[in-house]
Amino acid sequence: MSRTPLIAGNWKMHKTVEEAEDFIQGLLPRVYAADGVDVGLCAPFTALTALIDSTRGSRVEVYAQNMHQAESGAFTGEISAGMLAELEVHGAVLGHSERREHFGETDAALAEKVVAALGAELRPILCVGESQAEREGGRMEEKLRTQVTEGLAKVPDEQLGDVVIAYEPIWAIGTGLTASPEQAQEACAYVRSLVAERSAEQAERLRVLYGGSMKPENAAELLALPDCDGGLIGGASLDPESLGAIVDAAG
Ligand code: PGA
Repeated sequence: MSRTPLIAGNWKMHKTVEEAEDFIQGLLPRVYAADGVDVGLCAPFTALTALIDSTRGSRVEVYAQNMHQAESGAFTGEISAGMLAELEVHGAVLGHSERREHFGETDAALAEKVVAALGAELRPILCVGESQAEREGGRMEEKLRTQVTEGLAKVPDEQLGDVVIAYEPIWAIGTGLTASPEQAQEACAYVRSLVAERSAEQAERLRVLYGGSMKPENAAELLALPDCDGGLIGGASLDPESLGAIVDAAG
């Protein structure tokens, strides 16, 4: 089975509405002819509506960077799946390591968030990945097993392939250090094998992205890996030309 690669820019807490509009005017002509690749922008909540309007009819999908698991309730400052779906957002990044580290995001909450997103027909991009200490201590597989199995625990088997999993080694995020192709392939294949323990068919459908200092110079070799179906890109996604070059590398 061939999986359509997904190149998703994760803007984090960058870009006002005006800056997002400028960016999209640069990106749309840049990716217009890209064939056989999905392009996503994971933007701050405040820029979602503007991006949805300006990308309508284009190949660019718009994602939120977080979402609460409840339908509604006394959760000041939070946003539900239904609220995102109403804006026609395509999906949401869930469990980014920055949210796990700075905002106490847990695997138990993520299990709820992933099903809440699917229930609202949003595509979850579930982020997993080990720290430097965990890798050096030989605990990478254990960490990935916990994050993947717990994060997907409430997803019915037949929907597993609707989830996107981003393998992002924490030591490579924003550091300029990239996993070697061998390291990235080993981890992405391991993530897929964890899903295959529940359904081999869904594991074949599942897209596994690599994230962590992906840039135009290293994208082609990472995207050519058999178990890497795209990228989640932070720093290099802030400029339309550099995100466009990564999209080219995936096509
Ligand atoms: P980076 O960020 O590309 O800047 O390393 C990746 C991410 O955090 O998703």
